[in-house]
Amino acid sequence: MANPAVPPSQPPRAPRSTPRESLRTWPNIAGIAYGGDYNPDQWPEATWVEDARLMQEAGVSMVTVGVFSWARLEPTEGTYDFGWLDQVMDLLHAHGIGVDLATATASPPPWFSRRYPQSLPETREGHRLWPGSRQAYCPSSPDYRAASVRLATALATRYGKHPALVMWHVNNEYGCHVPQCFCDESAAAFRRFLQARYGDLARFNDAWGTAFWSQHYSDWDEVLPPRSTPAHPNPTQQLDWWRFSSDELLNCFRAERDALREITPDIPVTTNFVGMLKPIDYFSWAREEDVVSNDHYLIGEDPDGHIELSMTADLIRGLAAGTPWVLMEHSTSAVNWQPRNLAKQPGQLRRNSLQHVARGADAVCFFQWRASRSGAEKFHSGMLPHAGTDSKVWREVVELGGNLRALAEVAGSRVESDVAIVFDWPAWWAVELDSHPSVDVEYLPLVREMYAALWRQGITVDFVRPDQDLSRYKLVVVPSLYLVSEAAAANLTQYVSAGGHLVCGFFSGIVDVNDAVRLGGYPGAFRQLLGIRIEEFFPLRQAETVALSDGGTGSVWTEALHCEAAEVTARYVDGPLLGWPARTSNRFGDGTAHYLSTRHDPATLDRVLGQICDRVGVSSPIIAPAGVERVRRRDASGNTSYLFVINHTEREVDLVVAGAEILGDAMNDHADGHVVVAPGAVAVLKENLAAPHKE
Ligand code: GLA
Ligand code: GLA
Repeated sequence: MANPAVPPSQPPRAPRSTPRESLRTWPNIAGIAYGGDYNPDQWPEATWVEDARLMQEAGVSMVTVGVFSWARLEPTEGTYDFGWLDQVMDLLHAHGIGVDLATATASPPPWFSRRYPQSLPETREGHRLWPGSRQAYCPSSPDYRAASVRLATALATRYGKHPALVMWHVNNEYGCHVPQCFCDESAAAFRRFLQARYGDLARFNDAWGTAFWSQHYSDWDEVLPPRSTPAHPNPTQQLDWWRFSSDELLNCFRAERDALREITPDIPVTTNFVGMLKPIDYFSWAREEDVVSNDHYLIGEDPDGHIELSMTADLIRGLAAGTPWVLMEHSTSAVNWQPRNLAKQPGQLRRNSLQHVARGADAVCFFQWRASRSGAEKFHSGMLPHAGTDSKVWREVVELGGNLRALAEVAGSRVESDVAIVFDWPAWWAVELDSHPSVDVEYLPLVREMYAALWRQGITVDFVRPDQDLSRYKLVVVPSLYLVSEAAAANLTQYVSAGGHLVCGFFSGIVDVNDAVRLGGYPGAFRQLLGIRIEEFFPLRQAETVALSDGGTGSVWTEALHCEAAEVTARYVDGPLLGWPARTSNRFGDGTAHYLSTRHDPATLDRVLGQICDRVGVSSPIIAPAGVERVRRRDASGNTSYLFVINHTEREVDLVVAGAEILGDAMNDHADGHVVVAPGAVAVLKENLAAPHKE
């Protein structure tokens, strides 16, 4: 049924300076929400009733509807077809299922790209990206911005009061395919961004260091995105381009969000993140949302995939500032976009899901409800596989629904942690710019290694910004912070001075926010804090290792380091800097700052971080062998806590605990203070601890 046409010329709602605050910060769903992406428009109407019935059977409480339905909702410009969605919304509501309604703007329909060809994105090389898959729009396109806001407005007008509506799902995975567009419209928006950032050309030229290579700009119109150039493009131009591109996509989100909030201030708004996605500074995004949500997919062939899962979940909790977050998508089994798409082992779906819950997710959702029959994702698993209900996947989906109901009381509790890892998108962008001392210095591996060393010791980690209050942490780890602002450097210094303990990785503190070197000896911003001065970098050859005096090895990086106040805790015993310090420790104010001048091998990192944790009083919630994940969540009163134990090893483990299982394969109360967890199994205990673990 086509609705009366809305004139396409209708202007988008003007962005308001102060968007109305949302009145809700969580969808109106009891306990831990459970569900997935639901794409009924891929199926005949007859299937919908079966879908709703099976959703009930599985305990589904929330589904995301219509993420890619733009072409179906607005088949020609300004003409809406809401009839099918009316029916779906009513049907879901009748089955007690809440709807996280998508604004459907992630994939403009063919009519849009044909009518507004200038909205198609362009690569760095000037190639146009054509429609026929998804996300084929330029984030700076005024036509896209207007059309997306118009569709979001039409949906909010139509469904704002529908009883099934519990949350808005704006767009989908912004920037996952087209994080940056280099077209002329983007260039114009980039200039506006730079003018707002720098004010005048003199400040701008100074910030970009344009005295180098005859790059001085005399007119804003001369400034371009960092398109393909004969040699390395200006690094500050590249850095500002990362900043601009992240902000420009955020502007797309803000435009839709503001339109929704205007009409439905009581419905929370989210957009699904993609974990550690380099192009999007999610710390700046998260504060713009009512609810933080994330999509996580295991790399099937990674034997440490479960550690990477934990790390991403901890980052998302950091983005949500410790509040509950939504696992918007993961997979019940295989995906279809990796080179080899491994099916999940029996029990893995449950283990993966409960890992996210342990780390603060109060909603567990999948892509997608029913595996597609056609299209590029037909071999992607779903909650309801092609095989139907007589399948491992379906049985585990139903089982998980029961598990989440048993854990309902955990919802709203907070994850406990004494350790923080500093994570920073601008530092990531900057350290991986070209023209640096070594291509082997990559940001995520450095973060991952520090995280994994703590994970193996059962220590829960929060992810934090370098400029946020750190006083509640016993230990702060800075894997890599090549670029650091004055405020962040002062914050980290103050943290240690006041009694905090810090571990800092090499090539940190080197440049300011404009990527200009801090002179006088590295590590610039952290010289005093670390009590060292680095005279020259000595990066290593590919795959070269150097021996350390404590028996460990270093790789990637070494440097000629002088101790000014620090003491040496390990030296190089071979390599280009034989006898020079490799690791140092500095007492600073009431705290300590440790420095690692080379990439440590994992076993050495385990030992070094383990010793530091012992010294500063950081420990795992309970004692368990490596490979047994343990995370504690505590409710707002502080009196009740929940211990999640996830056995990733191939051995049964017998652990000393204080509490009774509310979820476990044995389901008894273990009055003897032990719990036995089988290989691959999960136990969740409601603890009876004498006093809160920490204030
Ligand atoms: C060439 C160029 C110089 C400089 C050096 C760097 O020699 O002429 O301007 O770029 O390379 O090695
Ligand atoms: C992303 C998208 C989904 C789907 C899945 C497949 O998370 O948001 O639409 O493509 O990947 O894994």
